Amino acid sequence: MDLLKAMEERRSSRAFLDKPVDRETLEKLFRLATQAPSAINLQPWEITVVSGEEKNRLSRLLVKRMKEMNVSCGPGANRPLPEYYVERERGLLNVMLPGLPENVSFQDFINEGSCNFYGAPSAIIITIDEVFSSIRLTDIGIVVGYLVLAAHGLGLGSCPIGLITAFDDDIKEELSIAEEKQVVIGMAIGYRDPDAPINKPRSERVSLEDVVKWRD
Ligand SMILES: Cc1cc2nc3c(=O)[nH]c(=O)nc-3n(C[C@H](O)[C@H](O)[C@H](O)COP(=O)(O)O)c2cc1C
Repeated sequence: MDLLKAMEERRSSRAFLDKPVDRETLEKLFRLATQAPSAINLQPWEITVVSGEEKNRLSRLLVKRMKEMNVSCGPGANRPLPEYYVERERGLLNVMLPGLPENVSFQDFINEGSCNFYGAPSAIIITIDEVFSSIRLTDIGIVVGYLVLAAHGLGLGSCPIGLITAFDDDIKEELSIAEEKQVVIGMAIGYRDPDAPINKPRSERVSLEDVVKWRD
């Protein structure tokens, strides 16, 4: 698939077909995604792939912990957001609302869906060694960008899941990930359900003038 087309087309998937992704396809995905650039070629990303019964166990644990701890998806801000960011959040809510299942609030759908990796057959947990400072999170962001595009190119759907970082210790214990690793982000991976209403809406983007400044 043409890269530019993939960049235009890709959107997060929040409903998946009940069809596992085979090992060969997943390996291809990671081979492509790990071509991402990284500072000094450190490749600081560490990827744990969770499928099958282990993925179901992890989902159950995360949903339980989310309810116990009353964790909710949020902007990760230190202060109240300026209005133009609130407007972007509102925009996402408005495009997603028509696709939500009946009698489920947006927040409940996102919170429970995120902990359940939206029912995808595979979940990815990306960690980084605590030896690195937060500057290296840029490298993780880049590999996430490569992952979602490579997934799209391979005919897969994906959704980055930041919410699960609230359960760093639980995830590490469940998946036997070493204590000195930090969970940076998760991702749902599977075959996108093309008929699911929640997969229909396309999130919008602000105009270029709002994010690009030119100095000549
Ligand atoms: C770092 C990061 C964390 C995210 N965390 C979540 C999450 O926890 N739950 C979720 O449903 N979507 C999550 N998303 C997906 C965003 O909501 C989505 O990318 C955004 O609304 C733009 O929509 P699009 O991906 O369909 O283009 C996350 C995306 C990124 C990049």
